[in-house]
Amino acid sequence: MAYEFITVHTEADKVGVITLNRPKQLNALNAGLMIELGQALKAFDADHAIGCMVITGSEKAFAAGADIGAMATYTFADVYKDDYITRDWETIRSIRKPVIAAVSGFALGGGCELAMMCDFIIAADNAKFGQPEIKLGVIPGAGGTQRLPRAVGKAKAMDLALTGRMMSATEAEQAGLVSRIVPLDKLMEETLGAALMICDYSQIAVMAAKESVNRAFESGLADGVMFERRLFHALFATADQKEGMDAFVNKRKAVFKHQ
Ligand code: HXC
Repeated sequence: MAYEFITVHTEADKVGVITLNRPKQLNALNAGLMIELGQALKAFDADHAIGCMVITGSEKAFAAGADIGAMATYTFADVYKDDYITRDWETIRSIRKPVIAAVSGFALGGGCELAMMCDFIIAADNAKFGQPEIKLGVIPGAGGTQRLPRAVGKAKAMDLALTGRMMSATEAEQAGLVSRIVPLDKLMEETLGAALMICDYSQIAVMAAKESVNRAFESGLADGVMFERRLFHALFATADQKEGMDAFVNKRKAVFKHQ
């Protein structure tokens, strides 16, 4: 499929890589890009050969936010009637296989929110995160006021949302927004290494792990633990559980068939 605002390829026939591709606009996220991103994610999610996805940008910018030029003339009636954000940005929430954000450069506003909608973030050492919407007379609108405090706590989330300042990769890693920092020239190598590792595990267990960790943000502790317990029990019905445990017992490498 030909895309205008993203490029798409696979690595080792197992990892679906989506590169945001509006470099002159620092990958500002317009409606066309978000529609294409949703289409590409859904296509990879439906492809049985794909075990993990990566979203990345350019060295200078993962994404510098929603497209301010496009938003500048929107009225309340436009955004309310068109269900702006909800309609095109939330596709990623329905994706069941893991999605890793490989972030270099600016991840601001909607760019930071998009990275936070991914399952985890690997950051290059030049990454900068922020929610600068306050400078534009608005607030984060794609989950920033909700996911950022869950990731970094209230104090830092308030600081970022109220001052609009940027946070370095180091600060983001110390605060828990980012799972690891790597040198810029190793960003894709490291991210693809993680993605390929995930692909070789049981896809059923991987999807269950993602679903269960996400449940931690949607439920109380007792309900979340019960959800996890039932998924854990269910995995004993898979051939992959037999294979994984038999391989350990017999000191050999497991070969999962995703069944
Ligand atoms: C549209 C953008 C853009 C954006 C950058 N550009 N960010 N266009 N929307 N969010 C464009 C610039 O206009 C410029 O185009 C080109 O990209 C290069 O940007 P420069 O500003 O010249 O680069 P630099 O001096 O290096 O500064 C980088 C920057 C700055 C610090 C990232 O561009 C910046 O502050 N951008 C806006 C960041 C922001 O406010 N993001 C939040 C958006 S609101 P020209 O044509 O002049 O070369 C948002 C709402 C989320 O995301 C809510 C729902 C999703």
